[in-house]
Amino acid sequence: MKLTGILEKREKLPDFDDYADNYESLVKDNIKASGFHPCYFDEHKIRTLVSDFGTTPRDKTVRFLNFGCGIGKSARYIYKYLPQSETISVDISKESIERAKKRNKDIPNVTYQHFNHVSELKYDQPFDIIFAANVFHHVPDELRLPILEHLRTLLSPDGYLYIFEHNPFNPLTKAAFNTCEFDQGCKMIPARDMCENIRKAGFKKIDTNYIVFFPKPLSVFIPYERYLNWLPIGAQYYIKAN
Ligand SMILES: C[S@@+](CC[C@H](N)C(=O)[O-])C[C@H]1O[C@@H](n2cnc3c(N)ncnc32)[C@H](O)[C@@H]1O
Repeated sequence: MKLTGILEKREKLPDFDDYADNYESLVKDNIKASGFHPCYFDEHKIRTLVSDFGTTPRDKTVRFLNFGCGIGKSARYIYKYLPQSETISVDISKESIERAKKRNKDIPNVTYQHFNHVSELKYDQPFDIIFAANVFHHVPDELRLPILEHLRTLLSPDGYLYIFEHNPFNPLTKAAFNTCEFDQGCKMIPARDMCENIRKAGFKKIDTNYIVFFPKPLSVFIPYERYLNWLPIGAQYYIKAN
C-alpha cells in the first residue's frame, strides 16, 4: 500500500500525537475500576514476558524491539527485569516518541525512533524479543499482516514476538475499551484472529496466554494467576510466537 493510502487510513483512527500529553491520565481514569495504577499493568506485562522468555545470562545482551512504544511507559520495567537489554523503541507518533525520550532520560540502553512505514525499520542485528503492547488494535486491518511479516524479518531465529492485546471476551475490558477516548474507532482483536494473522505472517510456534484476572481488592490471588493462563476470560492476552 502506498504511503498516502496508509496516512489516509490513519486519519480515521486516533492520532496518538494528540494524546501524548494526557495519555497517562486518560489511561488512569479508564482503568479506575481495577483499583490499580496503570504502571501496575505496564510492569505486569514486562514481568510476565521476562518470566516466559526465561533466564538469560547477565552478560548476554538481549536485543529488544518495543514496537509502538507510545510515551515509553514500559522502558523502566524492561530495564528493571532485563538490565542486559539493548532496546530500540519505535512509534509512528512523533509526539509520543519525544515524550518517551524525556520521561526515560535516566534509563540506559534505549534508543528511540519515529517512523512512518514499517519498511523503514531496518537494523544490522536481529532482535531476541519484539514486544507490542496494545498496538495492533490501532493498526488498520489490512496493515496488520504486512507489519507482522516485516517484524518476523527483524527477529532472530530463536527470538520471540510478544503481542499483548485486550481480551474482548472480558466484560470489564469491554466496558473500559468502549469508554476510552483514544480507542474510539478501533475494535478489540480476539486472540484467535490475532493468532491467525501471526500464522499467515509465517510464524510457526504460536502460543496464547491470558493474564490479569483479579482486581486490586483480590490481589492476594495474583500469584495463582499463572495457573489460569489457559482461561479465555483474563482482561488481556499475550501471544508468543517464533
Ligand atoms: C494504546 S498505545 C500503547 C502504547 C504502549 N505500547 C504502551 O503500552 O503504553 C498504542 C500505540 O500504538 C502506536 N501505533 C499505532 N499504529 C501503529 C503502527 N502502525 N505502528 C507502530 N505503532 C503504532 C500509537 O502511536 C500508540 O503510541
